[in-house]
Amino acid sequence: MTTTIRVERHAGVRAVLSDPGFVVPAPPEAPDGAASTPSLAWLRRRATRFSNGDEHRRRRALASALLSGPAPSELRKQAEGRARSAGPDQAPYVPVAVLSAALGVPEGDVPGAVAAVRDVASAYFPGTEEGRVERADAGVRTLVRLLPDTAPEEAAQRVCLLVQTCDATAGLIRTVLDREGGEGVGRAEQGGHDAWALLTEALRLSPPAPVLKRTAVGAAHVGGVPVPEGALVLLDLAAANRDPDVYAAPDRFAPERYSGDGGGPGEPPPLSFGAGERPCPGSDHALAMAMGVLHARSR
Ligand code: HEM
Repeated sequence: MTTTIRVERHAGVRAVLSDPGFVVPAPPEAPDGAASTPSLAWLRRRATRFSNGDEHRRRRALASALLSGPAPSELRKQAEGRARSAGPDQAPYVPVAVLSAALGVPEGDVPGAVAAVRDVASAYFPGTEEGRVERADAGVRTLVRLLPDTAPEEAAQRVCLLVQTCDATAGLIRTVLDREGGEGVGRAEQGGHDAWALLTEALRLSPPAPVLKRTAVGAAHVGGVPVPEGALVLLDLAAANRDPDVYAAPDRFAPERYSGDGGGPGEPPPLSFGAGERPCPGSDHALAMAMGVLHARSR
């Protein structure tokens, strides 16, 4: 039986994320042939998110190159424009629409791409797929058809970027809208507060991906605790972001930690975008697009 170890301290989470001796768990085995043509299994087999070693380096470089095209400032403008005509249910998914268009989906197909990305996202992480695989398989096929015709490895990174954007960025947008009474960042900015600091603090207290998983390649220690070879390590970002050794009054919502007017030396950024070997390559894009949507939602 696999040993499972949970890491909740900031230093422990950072140490594991920076240690190549901990790798991303392999996606579940796919039935014969399921991964050879576009499907959920095909995507998991090729996406940088579930890859390790040389494959990961190559695929991550591809994903980063694709992200180097659209400047975050331009994505922010587009998100703001699209969010002005989006209903409240659609607003959190505006970033997926913006990035779909930036990655080459023709404008008339953008709504279909957003629906497909949502279907794939709902089954993307192993353990979440029950009853959703068929729709996710169809979603991957739709996206590969709508995106530019490229080699499978590049096509998979385009789909991966859209799926990684989907629920995480929607989660951040919803957290801020809930906190600010549906007011986006307008109320904060009118009060002279720093909207970026507001988003960062929202990410600290409500990380959209609250737990990351790693497998220990060999026997190791984390925070003095022995970790046997092959153990599953759960990195609790939500707990680490409230580590009292790192954050003063850790449960208090206090954007001034990051705004430079908090008086102190400033506190480390939250771990919500990961760290170490494979941090989120889309963090600037995510913040820019969320900011665009949250501006448009301000009255
Ligand atoms: C608020 C929104 C977002 C949050 C909180 C978030 C968080 C994360 C985290 C924690 C990881 C690391 C996973 C791990 O180490 O196991 C990650 C990876 C990743 N994210 Fe994001 N992300 C967000 C938005 C985005 C966006 C907008 C994009 C694309 C434009 C993106 C693309 C990726 C990709 C491709 C990876 C996999 C990197 C790799 O393993 O090489 N993310 N994200």
